Amino acid sequence: MEADAFKTLRRMINMRNIFIGGAWPYANGSLHLGRLASILPGDILARYHRAKGDQVLYVSGSDCHGTPVAVQAAQEGVSPGAFASRYHQEFTDCFRTLGFTYDLYTRTDQEQHHRVVRELFLKLLENGHLYRKSTLQCYCEQDQRFLPDRYVEGRCPVCGKQARGDQCDYCSTLLDPADLLERTCKLCGTTPVLRSTEHFYLSLSSFQSTLSDYVESAQGWRENAVRLTRRYLQEGLQDRAATRDLDWGVDVPADGFADKKIYVWIEAVSGYLSASRQWAAETGNRWEDFWLDSAAQDREEPHSITAYYVHGKDNVPFHSLIWPALLTGAGGLHLPDRILACEYMTLEGEKFSTSRNWAVWVPDILSRYEPDSIRYFLTANGPEKRDADFSWREFIHSHNSELLGAFGNFVNRSLVFVNKSFAGKIPSGELAPEWADLIEHLYRDAGQLIEAGHFKEALELIFSHIRKANKYFDSQQPWLQINQAPAACGSTIYTCVQIIANLSSLLNPFIPFSCGKIRGFLSFGEPGWQPVSVPAGQPLQPLTLLFERIDLKQIEEETTRLAAAQNPDLR
Ligand code: MF3
Ligand code: ZN
Repeated sequence: MEADAFKTLRRMINMRNIFIGGAWPYANGSLHLGRLASILPGDILARYHRAKGDQVLYVSGSDCHGTPVAVQAAQEGVSPGAFASRYHQEFTDCFRTLGFTYDLYTRTDQEQHHRVVRELFLKLLENGHLYRKSTLQCYCEQDQRFLPDRYVEGRCPVCGKQARGDQCDYCSTLLDPADLLERTCKLCGTTPVLRSTEHFYLSLSSFQSTLSDYVESAQGWRENAVRLTRRYLQEGLQDRAATRDLDWGVDVPADGFADKKIYVWIEAVSGYLSASRQWAAETGNRWEDFWLDSAAQDREEPHSITAYYVHGKDNVPFHSLIWPALLTGAGGLHLPDRILACEYMTLEGEKFSTSRNWAVWVPDILSRYEPDSIRYFLTANGPEKRDADFSWREFIHSHNSELLGAFGNFVNRSLVFVNKSFAGKIPSGELAPEWADLIEHLYRDAGQLIEAGHFKEALELIFSHIRKANKYFDSQQPWLQINQAPAACGSTIYTCVQIIANLSSLLNPFIPFSCGKIRGFLSFGEPGWQPVSVPAGQPLQPLTLLFERIDLKQIEEETTRLAAAQNPDLR
């Protein structure tokens, strides 16, 4: 009894509420693989923590506001909401096909979100973190509008490279568009003038020491997030405009601001909170358990909250400084614990470019390849700690040699053996002791790697065991054992089946579709995060192939398709 009771007890003590905030993609164009790579780790975490028995709330949504949506909608003569809906629908479909397990995937142009954002704004105002100020801002006389930061282009005053008005992608400096050298309007190319306008400012500078302490005590952030955030702090935090001259977004709850909206970044990050509250309202659950430490501890079994935020490196300051400042400023809300920002992904050695159409679009790749192949590649070769490259050659080879060659092959040869030599029933035998140990350790070690945000290492570790399992099969030679030592053969195959069953739990966060198939073959239910076993004598359900080999001719076909689709004029 003790072992089990002890485990249950330990689980209760360690009971955790896990909040996972996935980045909110802009609803102004399809997702490409680089974006997907930065979002996918959220689903791995969600699946892993649920399997462990933690309470998980995993939310995200489409970022529907902002000028890119408004401008493109106007060009097409549709409303911004209708324009955003098109991509919101597409994202929803892609995430579903890819097996994402959001508890709620919503959108920012909903009344519920607007209400939460306005409440937060008023709270910040009441607590003295917002003040009014008039400044000079870029106004385009040609287009007759104040230009949003991203629509002012020029050279970065720090590094001299081409930059947008909100931040320099090259050196990551946060910019004010008025600081750019050789400014031009992105819409018409003329030089904008400076005009006076009044805005609310977030007193970010007053959070300097609170945020420094917060960042220095942070644990489990990705190295890049810590580095970038420290740099902003060393440079000294600047107050930032919290409203904008825009007509598509969340209204400013103050007199004299009828033509303005709340700044999209302040508003979009608030989506984590509004989505949590929407989820609670829709499901009857408690959002407070994921946001208020007191609420989570105020239960029969006290829980602690861990909040992960998963996104690309260009999103770091908004999650590591602005969002914590808003949460602290409003008071009492749980701050991000682990900021998992990833680096950039290149395509065949070159930067993804939407305008040049140098991209692999998610709906397109999903129309020809399996979601698990994509999930596997983006994790095993993703831009986790350094920039990474997607090439069709690598993608197809990784599918054929790892997924099919190592994993699929082990599953297939073992289960086919059960069918051929044991009449389709799991033979009786003993789990080889070395494998009992390996499996037990694997849950622990892979789990630790996942929680630390080292998804790629976790997957590599599991795959190193798959290679070991194939070697075990080879060295046992069950095809000889079956005649020479049938009992030993039973143990070999029994061991292989148990390895497979455990792999289907261990790999479930990464490649859930094939793991689901295996659970079907072995008739077992929801995956957990502790060793499982399949009883001897149990019949196998009908087998299907886990993976099909991808013809190497596809490499050529895909690279040709990619080259043909690009728009070289815009290089
Ligand atoms: N839409 C933003 C982007 O694509 C990301 C917003 S993440 C959020 O860069 F949490 F801040 F909303
Ligand atoms: Zn720069």
